[in-house]
Amino acid sequence: MSEAKKLHVALFPWLAFGHMIPFFELAKLIAQRGHKISFISTPRNIQRLPKVPPNLAPLINLVSLPLLTVEHLPQNAEATTDIPSHKTPYLKIAFDGLQGPLHQFFQTSTPDWIIYDFAPHWLPPILANLGISGVFFSMYGAWTLSFLGSSTSAMINREDSRTRPEDFTVPPEWIPFPSKIAFGLHEAKRAFGDHIEVNNSGFSDVFRLGSVIGGCNVIAIRNCNELESNFSRLVGELHCKPVVPIGLLPPADFDGSSDQDDMWLTIKEWLDKQNKGLPFFWALRKRENSVKLPDGFEERVKGRGTVWTSWVPQLKIMGHESVGGFLTHCGYASIIEALYFELPLIMMPISIDQGLIARFFGEKMVGIEITKDEKDGSLRRESVAESLRLIMVEKEGRGYRDKAKEMKKLIADKDMHDRYVDHFVEFMQNHRVA
Ligand SMILES: *[C@@H]1O[C@H](CO)[C@@H](O)[C@H](O)[C@H]1NC(C)=O
Ligand SMILES: *[C@@H]1O[C@H](CO)[C@@H](O)[C@H](O)[C@H]1NC(C)=O
Repeated sequence: MSEAKKLHVALFPWLAFGHMIPFFELAKLIAQRGHKISFISTPRNIQRLPKVPPNLAPLINLVSLPLLTVEHLPQNAEATTDIPSHKTPYLKIAFDGLQGPLHQFFQTSTPDWIIYDFAPHWLPPILANLGISGVFFSMYGAWTLSFLGSSTSAMINREDSRTRPEDFTVPPEWIPFPSKIAFGLHEAKRAFGDHIEVNNSGFSDVFRLGSVIGGCNVIAIRNCNELESNFSRLVGELHCKPVVPIGLLPPADFDGSSDQDDMWLTIKEWLDKQNKGLPFFWALRKRENSVKLPDGFEERVKGRGTVWTSWVPQLKIMGHESVGGFLTHCGYASIIEALYFELPLIMMPISIDQGLIARFFGEKMVGIEITKDEKDGSLRRESVAESLRLIMVEKEGRGYRDKAKEMKKLIADKDMHDRYVDHFVEFMQNHRVA
């Protein structure tokens, strides 16, 4: 038997670091297996990526495509972190302008496969023309993909029996197994404005998703069958596509002592001094529209809590022995990191996809969601305190803490996650179109 062909794989994530980073992790894992990578984004995003490890540098080509200037989009804005969320539609318009430069790139360099995100609805026909195979790498859990639409064509043509926000507060009829995963009413109302109805980027997110799923050869999801398999199987059935779990991409080997920068030393000194109890470390990234602390808040909590408004080394903080729980907005990557360190979750989802992630991990009993007002999504301070006490202190919360410990075993099983990546790469080797 001849050795399987080495591949050239291009990756093309949406312009958000929550997407670019997992794509970049996947790129490194594929390169580690000896395949050539073209990682495609825009100049400032490429500059802001983590460093490519020297041993992989010969295999990883970072490709900068210029981003279109778009009215209402601030200069130099190339990722969602650069703009307030209401400007995201303009970033999508600029992103859609990458179609030309990407086509040019393909003319000089033809990859075997391209791994792409939810946004480039225009990409599948281009790939079909050039004989390049496509992977849709979903940043959304299989539960979210299942929830959003019953088929590719239903998503593209907006055929949905659900016509009012209330219809999205129960699991859709096409989910054949028991599940409670659905939107809260306040989430459903927001979803209608932004994601489900056409928005001012010209195309709704559901349309974009339907188009990229319809045009791909395979759907890759950040998942493993040991975490869940019912939704993954259902996604394949609904969309008539193979679904390949690529493992959970757990944090790479972590050495708490390696990076002795000043910021970490300051944080560590503070963490070292904390007693068991409920002191808190709050990483509060300041963006437009973000939380404003009440006057005098930091003075009042002095000795019990600390607030950092800059980037912080989340993995190191989570790994510190003083940390016993994670209050989170429910990004999927952050949840995987927290569970890697056995931290039970106090969940406060912000975006609507995060709401579905919170329901999923709520069903897994590794944490609880802070109760919100069903109609407007507002929070009461008492419910925040109750949830924290339950998860961190009370006897009744023990089950959640134990479940989080159990989940750690699954997430930290490096060999298992490696096998998922192996299997995914073999799939690409065996199923090329051209
Ligand atoms: C998966 O679906 C089957 C029925 O198809 C059901 O019996 C089982 O409980 C489901 N598993 C989970 C974890 O929900
Ligand atoms: C698009 O979404 C934003 C934010 O939700 C909203 O303010 C705007 O009115 C929407 N535009 C359209 C055309 O629906």
